[in-house]
Amino acid sequence: MIEVRNITKIYNKGKPNEIVAIREINMKIEDGSIVAITGPSGCGKTTLLSIIGLILTPTYGEIIYDGESVLKFSDNWKTNFRRSKIGFIFQHINLLPQYTAIENILLPLYSMNVNPSQYMERAIELLSRLRILERAKYRVEQLSGGEQQRVAFIRALIKDPDYIFADEPTVFVDEETSRIIHGLIQELRDRGKTIVISTHDSELLKIADKVYKMASGRLL
Ligand SMILES: Nc1ncnc2c1ncn2[C@@H]1O[C@H](COP(=O)(O)OP(=O)(O)O)[C@@H](O)[C@H]1O
Ligand SMILES: [Mg+2]
Repeated sequence: MIEVRNITKIYNKGKPNEIVAIREINMKIEDGSIVAITGPSGCGKTTLLSIIGLILTPTYGEIIYDGESVLKFSDNWKTNFRRSKIGFIFQHINLLPQYTAIENILLPLYSMNVNPSQYMERAIELLSRLRILERAKYRVEQLSGGEQQRVAFIRALIKDPDYIFADEPTVFVDEETSRIIHGLIQELRDRGKTIVISTHDSELLKIADKVYKMASGRLL
């Protein structure tokens, strides 16, 4: 279980442009569930997701994974924890444009002490599942937004992480691809994975076990 305790994030604290992005957020995220966070643009979804996924440090509050409060650990510890347990799909897709789809999927593995070639089979399976296998050797800059989003999705799933964070994962894709992604997310849950998604996608909200609504940095 992930527990989010009293999380507040203030950007540019103490400066004239200070902004409280999220305020006193408390959540309990059960293992093997799909949790959706929804709310208008600017309400703090990306900030919250990044904090729970240990990419961003909150100003106040605690994040607890399986009973262990983790924010007190070093950046190194957090990086290792993320690499071994977390897959994160960013809203701004964050791929390397000059590299091919398959390179983007396998490159992060080089920093993880594993042999990327042993993940090739899984990469191919996911590429074909998401109907972009024929784009595997295209440079990312030659792919459409929807294709890039699928590549980012596969990159996050390649190591079969326990926790998957996805920031609006279906905004750039067509309906059919959305359905494939929904199916994949449900399958991940059925295999015991924990999925936290920020989304406006009503179909995605339907498959969620729990939906949190946000407005102006607070949970409603
Ligand atoms: N790096 C940043 N620096 C300053 N303000 C930020 C930063 N990131 C987000 N914000 C602000 O925090 C608020 C929440 O943003 P965000 O978490 O991106 O919301 P959402 O994902 O729901 O659109 C917004 O007012 C946004 O402008
Ligand atoms: Mg966002």
